[in-house]
Amino acid sequence: MVKTGLSLGGSSLAVIAAIARASARDYAAIARASARGYMGTMTASSLIPPSPSELDYERVEAETADAPLPEGADPLALFAAWFEKAKAAEPNDPNAMALATADEAGLPDLRMVLLKDFDARGFTFYTNLDSAKGRQLAANPQAALLFHWKSLRRQVRVRGAVEPVSAAEADAYFASRARASQIGAWASDQSRPLPDRHALEKRVAEYGLKFGLSALPRPPHWSGFRLVPSAMEFWRDRPFRLHERLVFSRVAADGLWSTERLFP
Ligand SMILES: Cc1cc2nc3c(=O)[nH]c(=O)nc-3n(C[C@H](O)[C@H](O)[C@H](O)COP(=O)(O)O)c2cc1C
Repeated sequence: MVKTGLSLGGSSLAVIAAIARASARDYAAIARASARGYMGTMTASSLIPPSPSELDYERVEAETADAPLPEGADPLALFAAWFEKAKAAEPNDPNAMALATADEAGLPDLRMVLLKDFDARGFTFYTNLDSAKGRQLAANPQAALLFHWKSLRRQVRVRGAVEPVSAAEADAYFASRARASQIGAWASDQSRPLPDRHALEKRVAEYGLKFGLSALPRPPHWSGFRLVPSAMEFWRDRPFRLHERLVFSRVAADGLWSTERLFP
């Protein structure tokens, strides 16, 4: 219980009760943030880094002075080359990408997912089919992806139709996952309300017991989607915000692409 020595009204008591319920670690983090003034005197503008100087730009120029982006390239091959660089440079998850979908009212939605495969057919990720994104994609099978590799100062945008991966493909990927992640896929009602952390831990324990030492089958509500790109944009940081942008648009299903440069 938190003791204050003050006389408190109903809503204050609710706040104190909520703080008392929070874990000690969360409470300490809130106290630290409060002491730093995030909730008080510090303004957003004092948190945002300043615009780069001439010197910063010279450094970026030296780091990124490659040949211009190749117009006639196969965009999937170009993506593979950039991804290879990102894998070597990013501190973690070079395959993390933002996935944009829209709900039934047309309101955009956005979250990170991990790219698990890509080839001439498209970009594959896995998820819970009953999650918000799963339901949105079932109703409107179109999406956009965004990779932002901060260490390279590059981004790739991808747009297109989304199709389910085959059951065999999803089974193979599910089987390759760590056993605890497989149990997690069974236990999580992704995107639906969770009363408390304990409820999730209880479900994990229940599924752990249920499957014992046997191999876990893929849950019926868990599979993958492949975004089939109709357009891909490659963006590279250049000094003084004069960035380089190259857009590939699919002309024919057989892999023919047109290219166009855009003003930054
Ligand atoms: C780096 C990163 C990678 C993630 N990868 C996945 C993923 O591959 N699949 C997934 O379902 N959720 C992934 N998540 C969690 C999602 O961002 C999101 O919280 C969850 O899928 C629920 O989204 P929804 O409610 O829009 O369906 C990831 C989150 C982060 C930050």
